[in-house]
Amino acid sequence: MSKKIAVLPCDGAGKEVVPEAIKVLRAAGADFDFEEFDVNADAYLRDGVPITPEVWAELAKADSILFGAVGDERVNHTNYLAGVLLRLRFELDLYVNLRPAKLYDDRLSPLRREDRRHVDLLTVRENTEGLYVGMGGRFKKGTQDEIATQEDINTHLGVTRILEHAFQVARREVVMIDKSNAMTYAGGLWQERWKAVAAQHPKTKTRHLLVDAAAMQLVKDPSQFDVIVTGNLFGDILSDLTAELVGGMGIAPSANINPKTGRGLFEPVHGTAPDIAGKGLVNPVGAILSASMMVRHLGDPQMADAIEGAVESAIRARECTRDIGGSLSTSQAGDAVVKRLKY
Ligand code: IPM
Ligand code: MN
Repeated sequence: MSKKIAVLPCDGAGKEVVPEAIKVLRAAGADFDFEEFDVNADAYLRDGVPITPEVWAELAKADSILFGAVGDERVNHTNYLAGVLLRLRFELDLYVNLRPAKLYDDRLSPLRREDRRHVDLLTVRENTEGLYVGMGGRFKKGTQDEIATQEDINTHLGVTRILEHAFQVARREVVMIDKSNAMTYAGGLWQERWKAVAAQHPKTKTRHLLVDAAAMQLVKDPSQFDVIVTGNLFGDILSDLTAELVGGMGIAPSANINPKTGRGLFEPVHGTAPDIAGKGLVNPVGAILSASMMVRHLGDPQMADAIEGAVESAIRARECTRDIGGSLSTSQAGDAVVKRLKY
């Protein structure tokens, strides 16, 4: 039976890259039934809600969600973001955010030393807790006595399940990253769960790094990393860093999944890119690789590999957009991937 894919291009660059991902999925022969929903800044301004109850009911039923990017200068950024992307992550309980970074061509590495350029790592970011939950407040707002709090939520269940997932996907090593030397309560829980979960996986190598040292090591020698597991905020920050190690935000994909329920939302990491959106300059690779992650998640690793292989071959031939050394437009770059699909 064909899978039901809810399509949410949303805003800006999302509107340009999602059609390219769909083009590639169709060319690869994916048995998907795509349905696009009107979730974007125009709809928010019109309806007054980020996602209407009718659309939410459809999204909650879909096998997967193919997502573009949210954000628009005309709307309140935080409410809108919280009402779309963060709501989907939280309410569908998509607790795993997978952010792979793979160097497809040497020329895309910013590193001088050739022997340290090899990058093929995966950040497993906790996606439903931490500093993202929106708990906190502002007391005596606008006065000189103002107090602002932002709660960092870490639960036994949430920390345990993300650590376990990291071991499920590790090939040689899991590196857990936190800031337990300064953030002792949350760090204490992470450390305890880390030791307990690691003890259940004696065959996998393990290492702990503090987030500051991890940032330094990632730039110094990214080839040392396999799987990184960390909390929501550190995962957000470090995954932008790892994207830049392999060619930049334009090619970074992500999967937001719940491995237990099977729900998933797949999105490029680049965001709406207002500076270049609407001019045919946006790189569709982040969205296409996110589509490949969706295909893998829905159970077709051969097709996922074929899409990824076609992307790699197009990048190496410089049949890509300007940000990664080509001269093609967004849709021409999508066509270049389609042309190289061997499946
Ligand atoms: C990302 C984005 C989001 C995040 C923003 C848009 C809330 O930066 O997916 O990395 O911080 O998770
Ligand atoms: Mn981010």
